[in-house]
Amino acid sequence: MNILNFLGIACAAASPSSPAIRHRQSSNLEFASKGNPILADGSYYSADPAPLVVNGTVYIVAGRDEAGPAENGFVINEWEILSTTDPSPEGGEWTLHPAVARPEDVFAWASAGTAYAAQLVQGADGRFYLYAPVTQRDAGGATDAFAIGVGVADSPLGPFEDAHPEGPIISQTVPAPGNGIQNIDPTVLVDDDGRVYIYFGTFGQLLAYELSADDMTTILGEGAATRIGSLTGFFEAPWLMKRQGTYYLLYAANNAGADSPCTPTSYHACIAYGTASSPLGPWTYRGIVLDIVSSTTSHPGVFELNGQSLLVYHTRDAEGGTHFRRSVAFDALGWDDSTTPPSIQKVTQTHRPSEDDSNTPIRNIALRAVAESANETPIQYWIAAINDGRIETNPLPPDYWSSYAAEQSPETSTLTLTWNETVQLNGTSMAFFADQRAGSNIGVGFETISTTALRAVLTASGQNGQFGGVGVKEFFAFSPTAS
Ligand SMILES: *[C@@H]1O[C@H](CO)[C@@H](O)[C@H](O)[C@H]1NC(C)=O
Ligand SMILES: *[C@@H]1O[C@H](CO)[C@@H](O)[C@H](O)[C@H]1NC(C)=O
Ligand SMILES: *[C@@H]1O[C@H](CO)[C@@H](O)[C@H](O)[C@H]1NC(C)=O
Repeated sequence: MNILNFLGIACAAASPSSPAIRHRQSSNLEFASKGNPILADGSYYSADPAPLVVNGTVYIVAGRDEAGPAENGFVINEWEILSTTDPSPEGGEWTLHPAVARPEDVFAWASAGTAYAAQLVQGADGRFYLYAPVTQRDAGGATDAFAIGVGVADSPLGPFEDAHPEGPIISQTVPAPGNGIQNIDPTVLVDDDGRVYIYFGTFGQLLAYELSADDMTTILGEGAATRIGSLTGFFEAPWLMKRQGTYYLLYAANNAGADSPCTPTSYHACIAYGTASSPLGPWTYRGIVLDIVSSTTSHPGVFELNGQSLLVYHTRDAEGGTHFRRSVAFDALGWDDSTTPPSIQKVTQTHRPSEDDSNTPIRNIALRAVAESANETPIQYWIAAINDGRIETNPLPPDYWSSYAAEQSPETSTLTLTWNETVQLNGTSMAFFADQRAGSNIGVGFETISTTALRAVLTASGQNGQFGGVGVKEFFAFSPTAS
């Protein structure tokens, strides 16, 4: 889940909270959801969902995002659970169980913070096992301190204790030295024959082991992990499941570029999947389950309840949401049983109805245009961000467009807005990323014109082949009349 580090952008470090301000055993919050995201009021954010159904109730484990409003970094100190007996994407009754567990409380060997994507499964003994990526206080010289621990409890809601107090079951040094990856994002399947499998990894690395079903913690196979390399665009967040004898692996995919299945920039993630006829592969890539969401990261989980298959994921669509203040959402997942193996139909995202029923007319009709850049846009920036109606205070690269290229930024950039019909315009303006002359985002007005396109030619400062990068957050086109 650390897409930012991958791209070489500094993240703010998670601030360890002092014991005095812990909110353990907070009381449950019952609420009525009006649609996606499930809890949308910004009181609690929730990321990296992993669902488990027990006795007709779905328990969705999530990390609680606690980054500040303009903080570009993950701050996730605890796990929480959302539960309901009647999941409907249109809304319904839910319970939030806050502060179900914190890394340093469950694992004596773990640091506080980094309550990253965990999954809860029920073992053959009926107990509940929480596979949790946390950071080790002492990583013993490993290059990356992330490790996977296992908590166990009699209830899906905890309290969890360490099922393997000796330490993590997976790290760069256990079960075998030499795993050089960041050990996060575990997904576990208790197969119908009772055998247990764990997949994990990020930054394009996906590893798998069989686990002992007796203790749910012992890695089988003498430490030799299976490495999976055949899943197109695999980035992170694997979700392993089985249906009608076929294994499915859903995952967050990013391979921005000409062959990308679905990611317009290097910061985005879609959900893709593959299938296998054996639990450890070989895997065959099958396609896209969910397009990009509003947050740069995405994370799948699938459950069945009341005869429906549902896909859980997260977005930044809650009140005050950002790429680091995400909220869990879910939608119907359909199967096409006419193919062999059965395939997953692409999921359609739904959103709660807008609470802004005033429908205030606006003059900016750029929102209805198609934006294009005459120059090739560097892979981290997104041309579609210049007419999305959003101006971020502290944007990540896909939230704006820029001409900045590490090698050499061009002197001239040309941006166009094109409509599919003739429109009336009498003004335009641009919100720049930074460094603009005072007043330069006020724009210009002109006699009303009829046109189908508007072009901006931007000249960067600089000389002798060295030019500044120009960054545009928003390109407005004003109609004389609001609509
Ligand atoms: C599920 O139902 C069984 C049988 O009634 C019961 O023993 C168990 O405690 C229930 N588990 C949960 C998590 O509700
Ligand atoms: C023109 O674009 C608008 C906004 O994107 C869209 O709703 C409309 O269907 C398009 N009309 C045609 C004829 O393509
Ligand atoms: C465009 O026309 C509207 C309506 O006449 C007017 O209110 C607005 O000030 C004009 N904008 C510019 C930039 O001239």
